[in-house]
Amino acid sequence: MADAEDLKRRAAARALEYVTDGMRLGLGTGSTAKHFVALLAEKVQQGLTVVGVPTSEQTKAQALSLGIPLATLDEQPELDLCVDGADEIGPGLALIKGGGGALLREKIVASAAREMLVIADETKLVESLGAFPLPIEIVTFGIPAISRKIAEAVHASGCEGTLRLRLRVDGQAFVTDQGNAIIDAHLGRIPDPMRLARALEEVAGVVEHGLFLGLARRAVLAGADGIRVIERQA
Ligand code: A5P
Repeated sequence: MADAEDLKRRAAARALEYVTDGMRLGLGTGSTAKHFVALLAEKVQQGLTVVGVPTSEQTKAQALSLGIPLATLDEQPELDLCVDGADEIGPGLALIKGGGGALLREKIVASAAREMLVIADETKLVESLGAFPLPIEIVTFGIPAISRKIAEAVHASGCEGTLRLRLRVDGQAFVTDQGNAIIDAHLGRIPDPMRLARALEEVAGVVEHGLFLGLARRAVLAGADGIRVIERQA
C-alpha cells in the first residue's frame, strides 16, 4: 500500500501535466509542494523553460538549490499557474491553508495566478472545513487585544473553539516570512466559511487568514485507488 509521502508525490507528478513550456509558475509550500518542486526541477534539467515565484523562503531555497529559474512577484506580477498543497479541501474547493505558516504569501501568489491547482493526498478532502486548526496571521502589536477581537468574530460567525498563539519548538512565538505571528483557531467545524472569512477580515491587526475561498480551480488528489481530479464549477 502506498504511504502518505508516496501519494503526495503521485499528486505532484500528475500536476506536472498542467505545466507547459514558458509558464510563469507559483510554487507552493509544504511537504506536497516540495515533491512538486523536486519533480519540476527534473523537467527543467531536461529542458523545460519555466520561471517560478516561490511562496516562502523555504520553497525559494529548495528551488534555487535545484536550479529552477526564479523571479519575485514584483518581477512577475501575473502568473499562469500556482501549484500548492492544502491542509483541508472542502466543498467547492474551499481550502484551509497555512499549516506551514506560509498562508500570506501563498494567498498573494495564488491570487496572482490565472489558475490555482491544489495537490494533496485524498485524506485532505473533507465534507466541511474546520477539523484542521485555521491559521490566522496577525501583526505582533497588541496580540491579546487582537485575539479578543478574533474570538468575537469567530463567535459571531457561528463557530466555537479555542485560539492558540503558534509557538516554535523552543517555545518562542512562531514568526512568518513577513515577520508576523499566527493564531491557530481550533474550531472543529466551520459552518459558513465565507461568513467567518469576512468577519476575520474586519478585525484590525489580522493580516490574512487561511481560508482560501474561490481561489482553487482544480485539485489533484492521490489515493490508494489512483488519482482523481476535482474541478470547481464556475
Ligand atoms: C503552508 O503554509 C501550507 O499552506 C501548506 O500548503 C499546507 O500546510 C499543506 O502542507 P502539506 O503538503 O505538507 O500537507
